[in-house]
Amino acid sequence: MVINNDTILKDNDPFIRHESVPVELPLSAEDETLLREMFQYVVDSTDEEKAEKYNLRPAVGISAIQVGVPKQLTAVVVDDEDKNGNPVHYEYMLVNPKIISSSVQKAYLSSGEGCLSVEEEHQGYVVRSARIKVKAFDLISGKNIEIRARDYLAIVLQHELDHFKGILFYDHINHDDPFSHPPGAIEI
Ligand code: CO
Repeated sequence: MVINNDTILKDNDPFIRHESVPVELPLSAEDETLLREMFQYVVDSTDEEKAEKYNLRPAVGISAIQVGVPKQLTAVVVDDEDKNGNPVHYEYMLVNPKIISSSVQKAYLSSGEGCLSVEEEHQGYVVRSARIKVKAFDLISGKNIEIRARDYLAIVLQHELDHFKGILFYDHINHDDPFSHPPGAIEI
């Protein structure tokens, strides 16, 4: 499947709101190929030359519904820093990821969020859990994993898993007060 800015579903297509279903394991050849192509999209999207040449919008994650496949598959590539300021790189090809716990403490990105399926700007904070635990099968490691995600990675995973429920980031923005800071929330 060719994945680029022309083939990615946008939010004017009602199918983007469709719920995604769990995928059977072991993965079929078709599902595995799709997940690898999604992952490759995310990797290539941050390479300026490839992004320009192949019409890719930079992304840190993509879910299968965004290419018109309502299955619980998501690919994520995130660069962040640990508590000591050292760079950390996360990459996952997740099958049936599920949030098994979420912190009460909230977090949001000060710059707001973006999405490959959303072309207009939607200003405002998207308030999510600051820390989550996710269980999934990961195609990169070839096994069931548990991810303890915090801060930026936690935000990205929650954004991607929302796609499985047909939820887009701007659904979370408080339209009466888009930049209100919830008490105790971490600004990232
Ligand atoms: Co998105």
